[in-house]
Amino acid sequence: MNKLIIKNASELVTCKGNFPKHGKEMSDIGMIKNGALVVENGIIIAVGSTDEILSEYNEKDYKVIDAKDKAVLPGFIDSHTHFIFGGYRADEFSWRLRGDTYMEIMQRGGGITNTVRATRQETLDSLVESGRKRLKKMMQFGVTTVEGKSGYGLDFDTEIKQLKAMKMLNESEPIDIVSTFLGPHSVLPEYKGKEEEFLDFLIKDVMPIVKKEHLAEFADIFCEKNVFSIEQSRRFLQAAKDMGFKLKIHADEIYQLGGAELAAELHATSADHLLQASDDGIKAMAQSGVISTLLAITAFSLKEEYARGRYMIDNNCAVALATDLNPGSCFSNSIPLLIAVSAIQMKLSIEEIITALTINAAVAVNRQDTIGSLEVGKKADIIILEYPSINFLPYHVGVNIVETVIKNGKVLTL
Ligand code: NIG
Ligand code: FE
Repeated sequence: MNKLIIKNASELVTCKGNFPKHGKEMSDIGMIKNGALVVENGIIIAVGSTDEILSEYNEKDYKVIDAKDKAVLPGFIDSHTHFIFGGYRADEFSWRLRGDTYMEIMQRGGGITNTVRATRQETLDSLVESGRKRLKKMMQFGVTTVEGKSGYGLDFDTEIKQLKAMKMLNESEPIDIVSTFLGPHSVLPEYKGKEEEFLDFLIKDVMPIVKKEHLAEFADIFCEKNVFSIEQSRRFLQAAKDMGFKLKIHADEIYQLGGAELAAELHATSADHLLQASDDGIKAMAQSGVISTLLAITAFSLKEEYARGRYMIDNNCAVALATDLNPGSCFSNSIPLLIAVSAIQMKLSIEEIITALTINAAVAVNRQDTIGSLEVGKKADIIILEYPSINFLPYHVGVNIVETVIKNGKVLTL
C-alpha cells in the first residue's frame, strides 16, 4: 500500500471549494499555513494543519516528506496543447522575427499545412516516442495532466494515428492525457472553397470512429477568418455535441469573429485564445460558465496583443491558462514563462494564476471531480516548490522552481 504524509509545508495551497472559480473567487486558493496532508493508495485522505494531521495519523506508518520552507500545490494541468506532431517550423519563427505574420505564412501555404505533411510521414511509434519526450519535459514543470489534440492529420489515418499515440501514452506514462479531436484545424489547399465537403468528411467518416473507439472526449475547431467561419464552426460543433463529445473552440484569436459568443451558445466547456474576444462575448462566457482559456505564450510568440485576462476576471469569467505547445504558433511548454507573461502582461495575481492552472483547468478538461485541488477524495497529484511561498512563482521570472512532482501518490523521477 502506498502511504504518504507531506508535513510542515510553509504554504499548502488546496484550491478547494466550488468550481469553476469565477472572477473574484479565483483569488481564494484555500491556503493553509504549516499544512500537511495524508495520501493512501494514490488518494488524498486528510488535509489540514501539520499539528492536526500529526495528532491523528502516526508518521511511523507512512513515508514522510518534510516540506519545511516549501510551498505545496495541486499538480498543474496544461489544458490546451498540440503535443503530438511531426517536424518543426523553426524557419517560420525566423520569418516572424523578420516581420511576417502567422496568418501571412499560413496564407502562402505554410503553417499548419507544413506540420500536416510531416505528421503524415511519421509512424505511430515515432509519434509515441517524440510525444513521450515532450511529456517528460512537461512533468518537470509540474504538469500532472495534459490535454492533447489531433489536427495535424486532416485525413482519416493520420487523425486516428495521432489520437492512438495519445491513448498509448496515457496508458504507459504517469501523466494523464485528455484527448481532443481537432479534425477542422486547417483547410488544406485541395479543400480551399470546399470547406463544407471537408467538414462533411470529418463529421461522417472520422468522428463516429473516434467516438466508437473512445479516442477523444472533446471536439475542437479552429474558428478563424480564412479558416472556419462561425456558421461552419457551429455546424461541426453541434454535430460533435450530438455525437456525445464535449466542446472546445479556438476562438477569436486573430480576428474578432464571435467565437466566444458561439462557445456560450453551444455551452462549450472552454473557449481558447480569445485575444480579440468582444465585451459581449466575455459577458456571455461568464454567464454560461464557459472556461476562458488564455494561451499567453502564444500571444507572446506571435507578437499579438494579449487576451484581456484582467478584464475577463473583473467581469466574472472563469479563466484557465495553458501553454498551447505546438510546432507553429507556440513551441513552448514552459509553465514558468506562462506564469511570467500572465502576471506581468495580463496582470493576473499569483493566486488567480494558480487557480487558472489547477482547478479551473481541471474543469476545462472535465476532470474537476478527481484533480485540480488538494481535497479529501481527490487524486494525490501534488507539486512541491523549492521555495517557501507561491510568491516565488512569478518572482523567480522564467525559472522552474518545481522540486518534487507526485502523481497518484508516487514521487516521479524527473
Ligand atoms: O492553437 N491556432 C490554431 N492552432 C494552433 C496553432 C497550430 C500551429 O500553428 O501548428 C494554436 O495556436
Ligand atoms: Fe491550439
